[in-house]
Amino acid sequence: MKITIIGTGYVGLVTGACLAELGNDVFCLDVDQSKVDILNNGGIPIHEPGLDDVVARNRAAGRLQFSTDVAASVAHGDVQFIAVGTPPDEDGSADLQYVLAAARNIGRHMDGFKVVVDKSTVPVGTADKVSAAIADELAKRGKNEGFSVVSNPEFLKEGAAVEDFMRPDRIVIGHDQTTEGLRAHALMKKLYAPFNRNHERTYWMDVRSAEFTKYSANAMLATRISFMNELANLADKVGADIEAVRHGIGSDPRIGHSFLYAGCGYGGSCFPKDVQALERTARDYDQDLLILRAVEQVNDFQKHVLGKKVVKRFGDDLSGKHFAVWGLAFKPNTDDMREASSRVLIGELVRRGATVAVYDPVAMKEAERVLKLDFADDAKLFDRISFAANPMAALGDADALAIVTEWKAFRSPDFDRVKAALKNPVIFDGRNLFEPQVMADIGIEYHGIGRSILTRG
Ligand code: UDX
Repeated sequence: MKITIIGTGYVGLVTGACLAELGNDVFCLDVDQSKVDILNNGGIPIHEPGLDDVVARNRAAGRLQFSTDVAASVAHGDVQFIAVGTPPDEDGSADLQYVLAAARNIGRHMDGFKVVVDKSTVPVGTADKVSAAIADELAKRGKNEGFSVVSNPEFLKEGAAVEDFMRPDRIVIGHDQTTEGLRAHALMKKLYAPFNRNHERTYWMDVRSAEFTKYSANAMLATRISFMNELANLADKVGADIEAVRHGIGSDPRIGHSFLYAGCGYGGSCFPKDVQALERTARDYDQDLLILRAVEQVNDFQKHVLGKKVVKRFGDDLSGKHFAVWGLAFKPNTDDMREASSRVLIGELVRRGATVAVYDPVAMKEAERVLKLDFADDAKLFDRISFAANPMAALGDADALAIVTEWKAFRSPDFDRVKAALKNPVIFDGRNLFEPQVMADIGIEYHGIGRSILTRG
């Protein structure tokens, strides 16, 4: 099939490359010439495992092209995926200007029937706005071309996006019951047929339910994390071990084991933004989402938990103190620093006068860029951060090590070397990577999240 993807960001690029891998002829459009140049020269603007191979293979096969030519992009695809950014507005609502601009471009240039797919995460009701924008542009041209807007939200995890796309646990597609909507259904069914060979993975529904499904999924997952984080903070006080509790409750199939990991808060491009956008939608309908508001508050608090533990141990004034930080990206296998907990911890440490040596397996460059912006008002604070070449190099003479991201590379270090390199053998572990008893046996003072009952000084 001939497919157009509008937006070669994280979602668009993965979607385009994977649809090409299935044998489709994919045209990816982006307004950013420099990004298109990188892609046309064989580069990948983001870090996503496996994506470079898929892109290279399909470019070589002539099934995947990148361009800034809007008219050609509209002419190319029978199915037009809108996968542009929806950054949060100041009030937390999703900014739809790029989505609606893409819709207008389609209306301006289309000839013949088009299926327009909202792939970006967009608030309930956006498909109607996209339809109206396309219809408006068609009317300006005096055209009456048929089209239908469907909602097909993505459920891609950063760091596992290619795998998630190629082996989806579900495909959600919302379409309407008009003649055009049923024609769109038929085309989408054909496009996704390779995923449904062994058993049907597609959930067909109305457009608004599909839009709502995406927000509900992310809100539910964020809720689980904040709930576990709140329990972990209490576990620290009552003398329970949150890891034992996690196993104890996860074995109930109604609860399940995944997404129950207490830690120093969730970050990324989806959870914080989608939780806020859903709250905002609710307010538009005069409803206050009490639970979701708490989820956000708990997460804001949780990003400060490591900093609080450091202060409790070393005092308010950290001048003269030096800390090592392992893990900067908001999660492993990505260089994404959006809403990363590391930024909150590093901010707290340097503002209290400490110096910090940081290390991340892939996010170093992005971290440097983002931290520079975080401290744009006070460059002196940025100067307190040094960027280490490897995890051991970050440890030299540090008063303690703080772990913020659960990279595999941090899971089994040589603890004797860690202990020898640190000035004090103290670890603040924001992702509960190690066993407190093992740490105690080695002689490391260990501060996890919700595990203080097992922590020996
Ligand atoms: C998420 C959803 O999982 C995905 O389906 C959606 O399409 C986009 O948002 P992503 O943001 O890439 O994906 O990351 P995810 O792996 O879900 O983790 C999000 C954050 O939650 C990370 O900061 C992670 O460290 C944290 N987390 C996750 C926890 O603190 N505890 C957990 O148990 C799981």
